[in-house]
Amino acid sequence: MSALAGQADARSAARQAAGRALHIDDRQFARWAELLEGRAGVFIAPERKSFLVSGLRARMRETGCADLGEYYRLLQSPARQAREWSLLIDTLTVHETCFFRHASSMRLIEEQVLPAAVARGGVFRAWSVACSTGEEAYSLAMLIDAFCERHGGGLNYGVTGTDISLPALRQAREARYPQRRLKDIPAVYRERYCLPLDDGGFGISEVLRKRVCFAQLNLRDVDASPMKDMDLVFCQNLLIYYDRERRLEIVNGLSECLGPGGVLVLGPGELLNWKHPQMEKVRYQDTLAYRRTD
Ligand SMILES: C[S@@+](CC[C@H](N)C(=O)[O-])C[C@H]1O[C@@H](n2cnc3c(N)ncnc32)[C@H](O)[C@@H]1O
Repeated sequence: MSALAGQADARSAARQAAGRALHIDDRQFARWAELLEGRAGVFIAPERKSFLVSGLRARMRETGCADLGEYYRLLQSPARQAREWSLLIDTLTVHETCFFRHASSMRLIEEQVLPAAVARGGVFRAWSVACSTGEEAYSLAMLIDAFCERHGGGLNYGVTGTDISLPALRQAREARYPQRRLKDIPAVYRERYCLPLDDGGFGISEVLRKRVCFAQLNLRDVDASPMKDMDLVFCQNLLIYYDRERRLEIVNGLSECLGPGGVLVLGPGELLNWKHPQMEKVRYQDTLAYRRTD
């Protein structure tokens, strides 16, 4: 082995070791948490410190940074910061999702939200907030499309999926899913909206794809976003990552995106004792939902 190659190996080994041994004290944690929230709107609660550490460690290993200071400098580097921030955010957000994840919420939409919308006619705007890789947005589209078909159409609907993660949104737009995900989709929708692909997975039919669009949106920018006059705002498995104060801010912001009579569906148990002067609770078993009154 040449002397040069030996030095490079030693450097690389030192970096690997630094990544493995990464330790963050409470003061450093507070600084990183503040940076992540201020710059990216990503909140890491103190009890998730080990999650932050393993995320930073993974990015340091990937970028070859020997210590946290070097990685911090990389995040400030004009040439590399945009890409590295995007990759770090992706590492520090949980993208777990599936089709028709919460059956009771879907039933609530089918039994209460859609009948009212079809009776009213016109346009129906649905929003899957924090849609991850798109399963939630396509599930809503399947539900709405099939409902319209059964009840004489008449609803010009669209579903928007938003998320902070660009790689997740890329997958959502591709609309290609592995075979094992098919079992989550009720047979009636599976037959109608899922198409077999050569690689053994399945794709989403064109009928739905032209009704669903995806965009990057950070929750902290909701106020300035064009998401207004929504008929349905579906936000599940996101609030759980935030503390109560931030949950209230998020939900208050989402309420302002609804049109009169619009419904906000959260995950059951994701927000306790919330009151808003323009929102009334929708009573439906095993769900947490609110309707805008004006
Ligand atoms: C666990 S997934 C939930 C997906 C889907 N809603 C579900 O219930 O199956 C959480 C998603 O929230 C997104 N997310 C986290 N922080 C966000 C933020 N500040 N703005 C927008 N999306 C965010 C993540 O990228 C991730 O895709």
